[in-house]
Amino acid sequence: MLSTLPRLIGHRGAKESAPENTLASIREAARQGASWVELDVMLTRDGRPVIIHDDTLDRTTTGRGPVPLLDLEALRQLDAGSWFDPRFADERVPALEEAVELIRDLGLSLNLEIKPYPGQDVATAEAALAVLRRLWPAGRPLLLSSFEVPSLEVARDLWPEIPRGYLIWKEPADWAAIADRVGAATINVNHEWQTPETVAAYRATGRPVLAYTVNDAERARTMFAWGVTGVFTDAPGRLAAELAGEPN
Ligand code: G3P
Ligand code: MG
Repeated sequence: MLSTLPRLIGHRGAKESAPENTLASIREAARQGASWVELDVMLTRDGRPVIIHDDTLDRTTTGRGPVPLLDLEALRQLDAGSWFDPRFADERVPALEEAVELIRDLGLSLNLEIKPYPGQDVATAEAALAVLRRLWPAGRPLLLSSFEVPSLEVARDLWPEIPRGYLIWKEPADWAAIADRVGAATINVNHEWQTPETVAAYRATGRPVLAYTVNDAERARTMFAWGVTGVFTDAPGRLAAELAGEPN
């Protein structure tokens, strides 16, 4: 289980300052002092796990169309940084292996969000876990999360020792039963839907709550006051500076 959780987790690396889900974004999160990063993982046509958020290439690369239309080699030709700023033109969509090796070298902890293309819930979890089993340093905190319950069930069955975060956008009526079934260690929620009562209800199950995506210090203070343990933020350095010295 997780012995510690941070107050701030770099969302897609440090998305405010670098192109999300790239090696540059991971380095930037570390430079800003983040101890944890969150990244999204999806499969290529040839079944390779890569770090990307959207189902399609259009927004964050020079490619077009669904991510699983391309093999890793073709995906690697695309520029995944210019859309953010021309100085990031050399950034590529990272293979999960590369991202894990960099995170390992930087001494960061990881929340890997299993973000399957529709219909690939099981295969994406299996492929991501195979890489992590091979490369993740023993003893370094790792949290696997997903909005997709079948992906969490694969993680539970294949590598039960690694904690799982149950990601909720708008909560289903049976969220507590699902959290129990997948053996969730954390409940990861959209901050916009929260009230003191919703956070209290999640915490009443004995699980810490993480909230996404909080880029405003005042909102982070409110979340912490309501009992949220940590927030995902696009700006880990800025938020850390704005919250410096304040008790949790
Ligand atoms: O894992 C927290 C957050 O990343 C979930 O939403 O859409 O940003 O992946 P999204
Ligand atoms: Mg995510």
